[in-house]
Amino acid sequence: MRAVAITEPGGPEVLREVERPDPEIPHGHIRVAVRYVGVNRADVLQRLGGYPAPPGVPADVPGLEYSGVVDAVGAGATRFKPGERVFGLVAGGAYADRVVVHEREAVPVPPALDDEAAAAVPEAFVTAYDALLTRGRLQPGENVLVHACGSGVGTAGVQVARALGCLVIGTSRTAEKLEKARALGLQMGVHVTRGLFADEVRRMTHGRGADVVLELVGGSYVQEDLNAAAHRARVVLVGLTGGGHVDVDLRMVLTRRVEIIGTVLRSRPIEEKILAAQVLERNLCPWLAAGIVRPVVDRVFALAEAGKAQEHVVTNHGFGKVLLKV
Ligand SMILES: NC(=O)c1ccc[n+]([C@@H]2O[C@H](COP(=O)([O-])OP(=O)(O)OC[C@H]3O[C@@H](n4cnc5c(N)ncnc54)[C@H](OP(=O)(O)O)[C@@H]3O)[C@@H](O)[C@H]2O)c1
Repeated sequence: MRAVAITEPGGPEVLREVERPDPEIPHGHIRVAVRYVGVNRADVLQRLGGYPAPPGVPADVPGLEYSGVVDAVGAGATRFKPGERVFGLVAGGAYADRVVVHEREAVPVPPALDDEAAAAVPEAFVTAYDALLTRGRLQPGENVLVHACGSGVGTAGVQVARALGCLVIGTSRTAEKLEKARALGLQMGVHVTRGLFADEVRRMTHGRGADVVLELVGGSYVQEDLNAAAHRARVVLVGLTGGGHVDVDLRMVLTRRVEIIGTVLRSRPIEEKILAAQVLERNLCPWLAAGIVRPVVDRVFALAEAGKAQEHVVTNHGFGKVLLKV
């Protein structure tokens, strides 16, 4: 098989196309001929040497999500036949033309989605849905604050919260992204210029504040989240592009009874990964099929241009997901 591997920790030039033997297919697993791969910041961190793949996953081939076609079925696997279109999450190894996954981690692609759109779904939508509903216990009609609302996860978070009938406020440091997010259902936007947004959120919610925060930035945003939080709010920490350390006023956590909840998809055990696939299949696919939510593709690069694609991601210029075409 053809893959893009990290030859040593470093810049985008360390990503090289390599030939590898086709992977074995264990009991209960399927092999997928990959058509598109999503590019994530975690891939960049892994290339830099800071985010190693969990045990059992190719250590040097990044890639956390794919769309493709079932290519071969292992002994004991009964869910799919060769030729069926599937998509899903993996803990690594998706920058390749073949991936092997447990059949219960793969999900049939709704006919309404083409292969390109399908690859833009798993990380963004499963992360957003899991953070908002499963971790954040979001209820219809609550006020939601989605940070970096033009990001892959942000564009999904806005749509998931709107689908539930919530009031959705988004933040971005880029005014055009707030404008574009309106087409996804964003009702109000805060253009963040000096790291501040809490006063605006309180004004927009007539003093109530945000019930759930989809926190994709971290760092100093967390104190502002507390300033913007409603009583009994849930702040769900998903990303830390703004920093992993912060001073916060714990009195606000206590008096407002705020929950700060951390979450990560990649390092979950197989049982929880299967649950995540079920969220995609049972909760998100019907919305995708009905056009209630839709994936947002920013740019598509060739697999061989993986380094260029990662560089584009870290410029922060994109709106939605960056993909590789295999
Ligand atoms: N926990 C998990 O399982 C999980 C899963 C998926 C993603 N993530 C994390 O979630 C975050 C979002 O992922 P994504 O793939 O959706 O990201 P993305 O599409 O690459 O977009 C990230 C956006 O965040 C904003 N941003 C970047 N640095 C910032 C900073 N220092 N301060 C404020 N805003 C900043 C930028 O938009 P502006 O124009 O607004 O600045 C940027 O476009 C990342 O940190 C990612 O690693 C976590």
